[in-house]
Amino acid sequence: MITDFLIVGSGIAGLSLALKLSTLGKVLIITKKRKAESNTNYAQGGIASVLAPDDNFDLHIQDTMSCGGDLCHLDAVEKIVREGPTRIYELIDIGVKFTQKNGHLLLGKEGGHTKSRIVHAKDLTGKEIERALLHEISINKNIEVKEYYFAIDLLTERNLKKNKHKLGKSYRHTIENRTKNACYGLYAYNVKAKKVEKIIARNTILATGGLGQVYLHTTNPAIATGDGFAMGYRAGCLVENMEFVQFHPTSLYETVIDDDTQVFLISEAVRGAGAVLKTKDGKEFMHKYDKRKSLAPRDIVARAIDNEMKKRGDKCVYLDTSPIGAEKLKKEFPNIYKTCLSKGIDITKEMIPVVPAAHYACGGIKVDLEGRTSLKNLFACGEVSMTGLHGANRLASNSLLEAVVFSDAIYKYIKKNILTIFPKVSKGKDLKNFYSDVLDWNDKGTINADEWVLISHDKREIKEIMNDYVGIVRNTVRLQRAFRRIKMMREEIKEYYKRTKVTVELLELRNMVLTAYMIIESAMKRKESRGLHYMLDYPKRNDNKFKKDTRLVKH
Ligand code: FAD
Ligand code: SIN
Repeated sequence: MITDFLIVGSGIAGLSLALKLSTLGKVLIITKKRKAESNTNYAQGGIASVLAPDDNFDLHIQDTMSCGGDLCHLDAVEKIVREGPTRIYELIDIGVKFTQKNGHLLLGKEGGHTKSRIVHAKDLTGKEIERALLHEISINKNIEVKEYYFAIDLLTERNLKKNKHKLGKSYRHTIENRTKNACYGLYAYNVKAKKVEKIIARNTILATGGLGQVYLHTTNPAIATGDGFAMGYRAGCLVENMEFVQFHPTSLYETVIDDDTQVFLISEAVRGAGAVLKTKDGKEFMHKYDKRKSLAPRDIVARAIDNEMKKRGDKCVYLDTSPIGAEKLKKEFPNIYKTCLSKGIDITKEMIPVVPAAHYACGGIKVDLEGRTSLKNLFACGEVSMTGLHGANRLASNSLLEAVVFSDAIYKYIKKNILTIFPKVSKGKDLKNFYSDVLDWNDKGTINADEWVLISHDKREIKEIMNDYVGIVRNTVRLQRAFRRIKMMREEIKEYYKRTKVTVELLELRNMVLTAYMIIESAMKRKESRGLHYMLDYPKRNDNKFKKDTRLVKH
């Protein structure tokens, strides 16, 4: 297949960018499952933006920066915050129906925000955004969506036929040159036809979302196996700040968790509306940790819950929703009310048992203010990217905002550079001719191994290792232990992958183990505590050594 713009992922980042790029050329979106299946679809709280008369950009910038443990990049923060209102109104123009009161957008509040600024659609904001974007995509003739197409690896110089465009060993010697490589599209596994296809594109955009599934307890759906982070790393992209995995403080506590199911989120907006965290005996505890109590930023609340649970030997803490009142609860949080009720908890009458769960990747593939990665013609957008917005800890509801602001930035960059962006090595050739210069997928010598048990066992082991040793509270010994095990598994999976025909399960396992490896490698580099990265043996911040992003690049 050949296309102008290839987008991997059908969440808010991929879909909002596709609509814009469709004015410049043909857009192909590939997505590994059904098109609505994404983190976006499950977003509850909303999108943060300065829209209230008593709010201003400086306050949102300040809240973002102070939440981020002095690692946020001011230029990215300013860009995202200042463009927020424009991008929100664009979503409204597309047809997203946000909750209103008396003709005005109703603004919610979440942890770390000093003002009410969360635009939302009841407690189903993500579903409403996906609905509206997918509707627009369905009537756009320049956009094709291919479901059940799994992106395997990016096409770079090493996938070009010999002697045609090889850049030579010396070229690849330094980090600078390795990352100056270009991307020409990717290999994708057509799941239904069970074959690998090459897709050539002028520009490729990774919008593959998060990595929550490398942990046992996660709010992320099954698609979030870190594919984009792993693909980017393998192709030579710079990857930054992977140690900062955000744990959402309040996911519904359930006793049984299957291997790739997500846990149900109890939105921070519930605390924003007045709910209070308590222990089993009905006692408040957050005042001991932060003066903002239950509405402190997530790193603080998640750590406090973790500490209370460990101290008391409890399996969960509780969210007391009684200050909100039954009527408001049912009206503003209908999905949370209904879902809890279906699990035997009437939140208008009893407290909700909650535990922290892996939720969001603050790090990712490093991009500049135009969404460009360190590979030419490759962009990254949304959760998979590292724009500099979140620093060491993301402010609630800033991620949907980041995705729409950066999809606009990528669109504008491509629009401005459309005549010059095509890969240098194929100068003078049209896409069709270039197609034959790229190696076909080669699986000679591989076998169909039906080893589901092996794969599911490995997946479970990765999740347990990450949960037990690379969670909310870390230390050097635990990280080293996790690293040794994940490193060994990575080698084993690599070998297994080389001799086996691809399946979705195997591809996900390969990405999960590499993503876990990157998180641990980054965590081991940061010998201090900052934001989401808390080390028992380095409990203090060390600005002299570590007030900088953690960088990984493939050796
Ligand atoms: P996603 O929406 O996750 O989309 C990724 C897409 O890529 C999917 O379509 C997936 O199938 C596809 N994909 C992945 N790998 C491959 C592959 N190898 N090949 C092909 N396709 C692939 N943020 C907020 O700002 N506000 C909120 O209220 C909020 N609530 C949240 C609630 C929950 C339960 C969760 C899980 C997250 C929440 N977040 C929230 C975070 C936010 O939803 C995500 O960060 C955001 O939606 C990510 O959007 P995205 O487009 O980058 O990725
Ligand atoms: C929530 O609704 O609590 C999730 C918000 C977010 O992750 O930004």
